Amino acid sequence: MIDFLKEYSIYYKKYKLQILLAFIGMILVSVATAGVAYLIKPVLDKIFIQKDSTSLYLLPLGIIVVYFIKGVGAVLQQYYISYIGEDIVRKIRNKLLEHIVNFDIDYFKNTHSGELVSKIINDINKIQNAVSLYLAEIFRDIIMAIFLLIVVIYQNPKLALFSLVILPVMIIPIDFLSKKIKKLSTTSQELTANLNKNLSEIFKNIETIKAFNAQKYETERFKKSNLSFFNINIKTIRTKAMLIPILEFLSSIIAAIVIIFGGKEVIDGTMSVGAFFSFLTALFMLTDPIRRVSINYSNLQEAIAANDRLKELFKINPTINTGKLQIDTVNDIEFKDVYLKYGNKTALKGINYKVLKPKKVALIGDSGGGKSSFIYLIERFYDTTNGDILLNGKSIKNYSINSLRDKISYISQNIHIFNDTIANNIAYGTKVDKDRLLKAIEDANLNEFINGLPKGIDTILQENGANLSGGQKQRVAIARALYREPDILILDEATSALDNINEKEILNTISKINNKIIFIIAHRLNVLDYVDEVLLFKDGEIACSGSKDELIKSCKEFNKIYQ
Ligand SMILES: Nc1ncnc2c1ncn2[C@@H]1O[C@H](COP(=O)(O)OP(=O)(O)OP(=O)(O)O)[C@@H](O)[C@H]1O
Ligand SMILES: [Mg+2]
Repeated sequence: MIDFLKEYSIYYKKYKLQILLAFIGMILVSVATAGVAYLIKPVLDKIFIQKDSTSLYLLPLGIIVVYFIKGVGAVLQQYYISYIGEDIVRKIRNKLLEHIVNFDIDYFKNTHSGELVSKIINDINKIQNAVSLYLAEIFRDIIMAIFLLIVVIYQNPKLALFSLVILPVMIIPIDFLSKKIKKLSTTSQELTANLNKNLSEIFKNIETIKAFNAQKYETERFKKSNLSFFNINIKTIRTKAMLIPILEFLSSIIAAIVIIFGGKEVIDGTMSVGAFFSFLTALFMLTDPIRRVSINYSNLQEAIAANDRLKELFKINPTINTGKLQIDTVNDIEFKDVYLKYGNKTALKGINYKVLKPKKVALIGDSGGGKSSFIYLIERFYDTTNGDILLNGKSIKNYSINSLRDKISYISQNIHIFNDTIANNIAYGTKVDKDRLLKAIEDANLNEFINGLPKGIDTILQENGANLSGGQKQRVAIARALYREPDILILDEATSALDNINEKEILNTISKINNKIIFIIAHRLNVLDYVDEVLLFKDGEIACSGSKDELIKSCKEFNKIYQ
């Protein structure tokens, strides 16, 4: 708990005023609570035993004042504590996402998105209560306990000593159960992540699920995860539920001791009735903060578990690091004996290749040949395992990644449409420049489609482009790529969903572009008529390269495909 506090102290420093106000609130609540216990003595002794009539009016007024103070304190404390918690959590969420988006592509390929979402939402929520509510309540309850303790000791120090020796005994079951709760909480969070994973997978693949009549299979799978989630949560609830009865049982032992010894003193006349009841009330009230501290302490364990998981995430750093050089314009790219491995799988072996701007290059070859991998290296989604890539003669690692990617437009095999207007989808991530937008729309052959829409470029596209055909999606992606006016344009199977006429028109547009390096990955060989050079990939190597005519003459592999 101390470590946890230390870790968050950098955040707390920013809320000095709020902490002060909350602290004042806590003091008010604590003093007022102890005040109530204290007041029992004069009420009983003065009003009921001595039958004093001034006290009859004065003391009830005192009670009202004390409760008013307690109320004001409670509002102050609750508001400012929650404020701090909400605000810290907001900052952590922002910081976490800023951190995660910089992870290597490889991390995202190997991690389920549902898992990450669960971390950003659920884990941080657990921390929210911890950094504000739990800690504050623990703090307040300790203050309250001290004030109540003062009343207890003031009313009868000897009796106080008797009953308080049993207090440390209470710590043992609390500590044991708290540890158990922390363990359960870790499992529970993992299972929540599983559920999220399950759900997002189902919704993402709903077409496949329905087409394969796999609804039952998927729901059964979900039911299983859901059941283990339930079981763990119930276990946690059971453990938590045991805390209070154990504490109450121990309190009852204290009460019994107090009644025996205190009662004796009252009978002997060494203690007034009022002092006895004030003592007893304060002692009973004392079990309240102790009980709450134990509950909050165990809740805090869940937060600490969540925090540990977040720390793991914050520890991860991208292995692909940016350089400093800015790129003015890309003139040439050279692969020098480049190897790329994904884990054990070698995707590229000894690639040597140089391309000067302007040039149009087609990448062809078997599926799994390494075409996309070749492109990933240019984008620096991955770094070479061996060898190097030179850009304008210098290692690509020297350049700022942002500056590099600003010069590249990449249309991947998976096209992403954002739930936004067509204009914003095309000018993605930048402010819309109308002239550039219209030119990109025209070059991507989107004119006719967009003119047919009642809202034109302001039409909202649905998530994943659900209201577009496959071909329209590809054309939006092409427009997005052209809009950026890059030095390097990459189309990875970007025309595969287009009909012959549309594909021809787009290839015509592309063939007119004369100021870029263009890579077109294609399975359909009609593309070859629009490019200057062809690279044929086979098992991670460039088997042949040259113009189409050269390949026809001299490349056996090519002729196998070409026939
Ligand atoms: N993230 C990855 N982890 C492990 N292996 C991978 C990964 N990505 C690709 N591979 C493997 O690397 C090899 C090259 O893949 P790549 O995607 O470059 O092929 P490709 O030529 O683009 O194929 P396609 O025409 O089917 O798109 C393949 O054998 C593939 O299985
Ligand atoms: Mg590919």
